[in-house]
Amino acid sequence: MTFFSVLVFSVVLLNSVNSSQTFEIFTRATDAFKSFLNIELITVDKPRSTGDSNETDSVAEDATLLAPDLIRKYQYPVEVHNVTTDDGYILQVFRIPKPDQQPVLLMHGLLDTSDTWILMGPQQGLAYLLSDLGYDVWMGNVRGNRYSNRHSILSPMSRKYWDFSLDEIGYYDIPAIVDHVLNQTNYPKLHYIGHSQGNAVFFVMCSERPEYANKIYSMHGLAPIAFFSTVRSPVINSMVASIDFLRILTATLRIYEFLPNSEFLTKSTRIMCHDASIVQAVCSNMLFLLAGFNTDQLNKTMLPVALGHTPSGASVKQMIHFAQLIKSGHFRKYDYGRFRNDMRYGTTEPPDYNLLNVKMPVSLYYSENDWLLDVESVQKLSTLLPNVQDKYLIPLKQFNHLDFCWAVDGRKIVYGRLLENMQIAESNGNLFS
Ligand SMILES: *[C@@H]1O[C@H](CO)[C@@H](O)[C@H](O)[C@H]1NC(C)=O
Ligand SMILES: *[C@@H]1O[C@H](CO)[C@@H](O)[C@H](O)[C@H]1NC(C)=O
Ligand SMILES: *[C@@H]1O[C@H](CO)[C@@H](O)[C@H](O)[C@H]1NC(C)=O
Ligand SMILES: *[C@@H]1O[C@H](CO)[C@@H](O)[C@H](O)[C@H]1NC(C)=O
Repeated sequence: MTFFSVLVFSVVLLNSVNSSQTFEIFTRATDAFKSFLNIELITVDKPRSTGDSNETDSVAEDATLLAPDLIRKYQYPVEVHNVTTDDGYILQVFRIPKPDQQPVLLMHGLLDTSDTWILMGPQQGLAYLLSDLGYDVWMGNVRGNRYSNRHSILSPMSRKYWDFSLDEIGYYDIPAIVDHVLNQTNYPKLHYIGHSQGNAVFFVMCSERPEYANKIYSMHGLAPIAFFSTVRSPVINSMVASIDFLRILTATLRIYEFLPNSEFLTKSTRIMCHDASIVQAVCSNMLFLLAGFNTDQLNKTMLPVALGHTPSGASVKQMIHFAQLIKSGHFRKYDYGRFRNDMRYGTTEPPDYNLLNVKMPVSLYYSENDWLLDVESVQKLSTLLPNVQDKYLIPLKQFNHLDFCWAVDGRKIVYGRLLENMQIAESNGNLFS
């Protein structure tokens, strides 16, 4: 059995019986996993609220604050907007307003939230940088994460609520947010910046609703996921390998939500991540198993903040969709099986997304130490996109999937280039309008 299955099983068992026996099984599995990977795990010094310095207190506070309070704490203005999609999901969108200035929309990655753009603080966060430079900054949250967990009719406890994949996020959520931003600002176009899944769902929108290409000045893909060729993350690979098992397990246990910020994790982390537990290191390291280790761009002091805000919920179906993309190597719609595909799509295989509809200038930023997205996948994407403005391989070898949002030197390494590309797109746009 793969590590991931052991993990899921253990958590389920621990939640119900909490016996020392299951705990031991889990510990042994973890040890085996560690030696298999042969990596140095990162340990987190928990900030104590009775800590001896103000910095420690501040870090502990940042770990628990929700986005609006976090933004206010650093003396930026903030607005909270509710956006209702055509299929009834209520999404929270945060804005650091600069009225009458060019709007920029930031979309987070998988299991993440808009917090990713602000949680490393004003010196590092891309949202703050854009605001300082005079942009009107909007940060969306897709359905199912901790900020966008409401629906006009459905309960988030129901199976139907969680019945969505990247298809629905791209078809409903992103267009609804884009329309809301343009409506509120009276601008004809916005700049779009996506991280990880935030790119895939953007391409889904362009493919399925081509009229939206006219609403985007330029698109910037940080670790732009669409195709997968070689995934190096062992967590993801074991998940893909056990996909059928997981599908049955989650359906049997009626688990529709994957790694939510609240219940599932607090329940399991209470048991697994207590002090002095060897598995605690694994709790802290789940993120890096997903994203790539050995980066020196992570400020370890801020790790509790990162782990306080991530992971933050997705649907099991969405995870299965990702696994299907990894397995097939295609960027295409959810695979319901031959028979149901035929009923739904008129073909036994799911149709590929049409990247020719991504007509606005697109810039791609990617790196070698990204365990989710290898360089080849980005090459493939760039050859299929019709209007690539820039393709930028981060010169730092160790740069990983999360560094695009969290890197200590993000401004120097990525954001400078990104801003330049935005300005070029703007001046070209003005030239032709
Ligand atoms: C913490 O900050 C308060 C006021 O903000 C100050 O009075 C106090 O000396 C600081 N403590 C330390 C340990 O820096
Ligand atoms: C958004 O929804 C929340 C929860 O229902 C509500 O408290 C808040 O007032 C709403 N905000 C706006 C701007 O409508
Ligand atoms: C924004 O949306 C409101 C309500 O749907 C609509 O009445 C208004 O005309 C829209 N404004 C713009 C500038 O599109
Ligand atoms: C790391 O984070 C701490 C706490 O926010 C901060 O004081 C420190 O300057 C940061 N270090 C770097 C290298 O940015």
